[in-house]
Amino acid sequence: MQPFSLYLPTRLVYGKDRIEELDGLTRGYGTRVLLVAGTGSARKSGLVDRVKAALAGRDIVELEGVVPNPRIDSVRAGAALCKEHNVDFIVAVGGGSVIDCSKAIAAAAVSDEEAWELVRHPDRIEKALPLFTVLTLAATGSEYDNSAVISNTATSEKLGMANDRLAPVASICDPSLTFSVPAYHTAAGIADIMSHTFEQYMVLEGNPVSDGFCETILRTCIEYGPKAVAEPDNEEARSALMLASSFGCNGMLALGRTPSPWPCHGIEHEISAFHDITHGVGLAIITPHWMRYSLTETTLARFVQYGVRVWGLDPEGDPMTVAKTAIDKTAEFFASIGLPSRLSETGVTDEHFEAMAEHVETCWWSLQGALRPIDRAGVLEILRASL
Ligand code: NZQ
Ligand code: ZN
Repeated sequence: MQPFSLYLPTRLVYGKDRIEELDGLTRGYGTRVLLVAGTGSARKSGLVDRVKAALAGRDIVELEGVVPNPRIDSVRAGAALCKEHNVDFIVAVGGGSVIDCSKAIAAAAVSDEEAWELVRHPDRIEKALPLFTVLTLAATGSEYDNSAVISNTATSEKLGMANDRLAPVASICDPSLTFSVPAYHTAAGIADIMSHTFEQYMVLEGNPVSDGFCETILRTCIEYGPKAVAEPDNEEARSALMLASSFGCNGMLALGRTPSPWPCHGIEHEISAFHDITHGVGLAIITPHWMRYSLTETTLARFVQYGVRVWGLDPEGDPMTVAKTAIDKTAEFFASIGLPSRLSETGVTDEHFEAMAEHVETCWWSLQGALRPIDRAGVLEILRASL
């Protein structure tokens, strides 16, 4: 087993109708609040008003309109509001985009550094405002991790930043808040949850405990994902997906294993940076092609384990057939929940493929550490196969 260090400082508050607990959770953190929300869903559903009611007595400044693939401009605007109003803590109401934007704001609000510099150099973050989140979409796991992903349209970059100071103090996770998530974003969230799992599970060196966590999460998505897409207010399905999502990016799925460089995320962030597509959709398209690229005699056993334990394939079957069937089933599953299977369906062309392959090589972890090492030509091969 590889040595590891796991630090999970966030309190998860799971269950229906727990928003009122924000009052107690935020006591002792001051009285001036920045409330951050997205492009309208939380306002329309009345959730923003419920959160404000739970925070009665505090002075609330609001930043709404944070878009998917959140922009550095919103981070700058939020940090300026915090500085102007001496904000004590932040409450993010939304999905991963709102939460990520709020994390970056929390750091930029108490720093003299320019916001994009902090995204590029998260090791320079020495402090951050306390952050509380109210999660509305099961996907990223941002509610329970120390990372944020911010886009800069001026430079066509989408960069991840990680620092323990960005971890929320507490996250309210009420699965019924996700009933209103449209089928497309529900499916994209499922693909994201599964991708986080693949990124950490698909390594040469297994570990019985974290392998089991990963396989459980994948089976959960496969069983409950279609139910949530078909019946938006199926509480059991929404709850299963939300719980599966929370562990995606906080290290729980990689315990004791050699870290993977998350190749699909590296490639997907490049696609989003140039084409602003939905994160989970990009992952659903790339993943089967990355799997086909990665299947070799050396990696075969891992795919067989995946096929047998997740898809219930015959352990006595021909290993290469089992592995290929598992990959095909992965692609079919994404299609079955309504996700596109080609980048061209989302408006992506091959125009920027060379730039993407170059950028991922210089700005992401080395993909040489992937299940099958991926060089620049490999990134291009996966992108072209996905088109
Ligand atoms: O803008 P609003 O009104 O909130 O609408 C959103 C948005 O249109 C909508 N939505 C969210 N909750 C809803 C809802 N609509 C109806 N009812 C609700 N309850 O869904 C759309 C997508 O929301 P978004 O927050 O963008 O989705 P997601 O949670 O998938 O976040 C995606 C972002 O997170 C980053 C991605 O790259 C992307 O920028 N990631 C963050 C990670 C992290 N912090 O650890 C890791 C991930 O791998 C990922 O990279
Ligand atoms: Zn992701």
